[in-house]
Amino acid sequence: MSSLSVENLAPVVGIKEMVDNGLAQVPLLYVRPVHDRPSAASVSDDQQIPVIDMAGIDSPNSRSKILAELGRACENWGFFQVINHGIHPHVIENLRAAAQKFFQQPSEERMRYHSQSFRASVGYSTSFNPSLEKVRDWRDTLSFNRFPGECDGFQEAPDICKQPLQEYIAGVEKLAGTLYKAIFDSLGLDDKYLEAALPGIPRVLMGINYYPPCPDPSLTLGLSGHSDVSCLTILQPDEVPGLQVRKGATWVVVKPIKDAFVVNLADQTEILTNGRYKSIEHRVVTNTEKPRMSIACFFGPAEDTIIAPLSELIDEKTNPPRYKPTRFGDYVKNFTTNRLLSNRGTLDFARV
Ligand code: OGA
Ligand code: NI
Repeated sequence: MSSLSVENLAPVVGIKEMVDNGLAQVPLLYVRPVHDRPSAASVSDDQQIPVIDMAGIDSPNSRSKILAELGRACENWGFFQVINHGIHPHVIENLRAAAQKFFQQPSEERMRYHSQSFRASVGYSTSFNPSLEKVRDWRDTLSFNRFPGECDGFQEAPDICKQPLQEYIAGVEKLAGTLYKAIFDSLGLDDKYLEAALPGIPRVLMGINYYPPCPDPSLTLGLSGHSDVSCLTILQPDEVPGLQVRKGATWVVVKPIKDAFVVNLADQTEILTNGRYKSIEHRVVTNTEKPRMSIACFFGPAEDTIIAPLSELIDEKTNPPRYKPTRFGDYVKNFTTNRLLSNRGTLDFARV
């Protein structure tokens, strides 16, 4: 039987290659339809996502105050920055420096890892899903997947970044565990209940995104509007701004704090909380001057886990389930083949 998959075709050219070779204007393949361009009129510079100080999260005296702030951030924004999170700035800096080295290598070196598969343990890709997209995103990504019992891209990483990568993921994974527990604790649910009912988050995907400068940022997006699919995302943004978060009709510009992480709730958390905590749409805009590099870590359940609203958070009469039980692996598959349903459209897959 012959199989002609995307992987058998000639690799698609990354946006870094095009920009490095000299681009006077945005190629048509990257020009978004007018309604989907990042118009300055809808962007808000005077609001900010909340900042949560994590110092004291493990101390009984301060935990409840931090949980209250966290709960408000989750309910009102679904997005926040964390400071005093326990990860040393050197760990972040070392991975950023190593990843820069990866992206600065000649194309042939980077392309040794080329794969557009969402399941590759290590993959170097462009845009999101070029075989389906009419318009591409202005980014290339080096990604690492860990499917417990199946593959661990962090073990197979290129030598140029392997050691700092492993140190970084160990720290961020610990932080993810602390935050995930705190997020559900903030709903006032009993510890024992959570222990029995809350799915674990062993599945990790890291995407190191590279957004080259762009001749006309008004025509295109680094990453088009989407919500994240897993439970929780921990992002190391660049000092170069670019991330915007939807708040009603406006896009709020995220102003990164040095050495902080940006955290957002993803779709499975919205489902588990029956919509009380939201997975919010966000996007990345480009700029004419500087490349931007972000490190996004997505934490989710094992693929066979069935995700449904937690029984303690629903009530057949007053708060009926808004989402049906959905296998996480099926949810992800729908996302990777249908992400063009932006504006949180992927959540429709699990809606009642
Ligand atoms: C993502 C994402 C934001 C950024 O990778 O899903 O939203 O700033 N990234 O790169
Ligand atoms: Ni995202």
